[in-house]
Amino acid sequence: MSTHDLYIRPVEAPGQDVPMTGAARFTWEYDDGRARLLALYQKGKDKQWDAAERIDWDLEVDPYNVLGTPDEAMAIHGTKYWDMMSADERSDLRRHFASWQFSQFMHGEQGAMITAARIVESVPDLDSKFYSATQTMDEARHTEIFSRFLQEKIGMVYPINGKLQDLLNETLSDSRWDMPYLGMQVLIEGLALAAFGVCRDVTTKPLPRQILAYVMQDEARHVAFGRMALRDYYKQLSSAELAEREEFVIEGCYLMRDRIRGFEVWENFGIDPKEVREFVEQSAFHQMYRSLLFSRIVPCVKDIGLWSDRIRQTYDDMGVLDMSKSDLEALMRHDEELADQLDAQRFAAEEADRKAEVDTVVAAEAEAAAS
Ligand SMILES: [Fe+2]
Ligand SMILES: [Fe+2]
Repeated sequence: MSTHDLYIRPVEAPGQDVPMTGAARFTWEYDDGRARLLALYQKGKDKQWDAAERIDWDLEVDPYNVLGTPDEAMAIHGTKYWDMMSADERSDLRRHFASWQFSQFMHGEQGAMITAARIVESVPDLDSKFYSATQTMDEARHTEIFSRFLQEKIGMVYPINGKLQDLLNETLSDSRWDMPYLGMQVLIEGLALAAFGVCRDVTTKPLPRQILAYVMQDEARHVAFGRMALRDYYKQLSSAELAEREEFVIEGCYLMRDRIRGFEVWENFGIDPKEVREFVEQSAFHQMYRSLLFSRIVPCVKDIGLWSDRIRQTYDDMGVLDMSKSDLEALMRHDEELADQLDAQRFAAEEADRKAEVDTVVAAEAEAAAS
């Protein structure tokens, strides 16, 4: 079956072209690179994994309750729209929302794959090209995973959100080599990572939990790469050049904030998105959710040195300035450990199953021998 059969509305076939500017850069400098970057490249190579083997695709998923989250997580919960819906309609809404969310993850991962490849092409140094080549492979695997999850388990796909597409286009069409890092590694991945984290931590279902935990383990390296490259480079820029980058971040953060509202789903259900926006603004649950979504972007922007009054004011207006205090290193360490723990639990469970099977056979044999 073609993905086009699963899209909730027709999308441009087979895809879309985004014109690019700037140069593909060769380097003739094959000597040693920066130790930290090469260490990250080594880690990128060592930690490759195959989704076909590591993920337990036999686990069942209820497409009408993909994450098992409570009704309160729906923005219209407790409103007249929710009260008017039958149980079937609510289930349908849940399925659409999960499809929308995972579809944006999938399209974002494809964007990350294309951007990482773009960095291989445009970044001047060989150590960065090496690292970004491993990230390109990581993002290919992530795209594959979300696409399989959507097609096999949810059976419905949403087109890419317009704001996400806008930010990707802007990121890819800029000729300055640092802009793909800023747009992708800091903004788009920062938001995606926080959204993965919220879903991973609230879901009661084993398959989405595995997928998100393992994908996040890779993403910790991607964020480290973006921070390393930009922190060094931004120290050398003039205040006018830094101001241009800050402008890009501010605009990008507003685009990202609007992306997370899921307008397309409300429109499908005949609900006015403006009204939903008001519900969300008033809901303490959603205020908290939104600030969590900025928990990775804000400390990263601060860390790379884009921390002017203007940026701080923007985050203050968005209600997420406090997130600058979150400890990015600790969050990343936690992401990596959690994936390892999940592996350990699963292998321990498999080992116990295997042992039980052996014990049963041995007991049966002993019984047969005794009779
Ligand atoms: Fe990814
Ligand atoms: Fe990534």
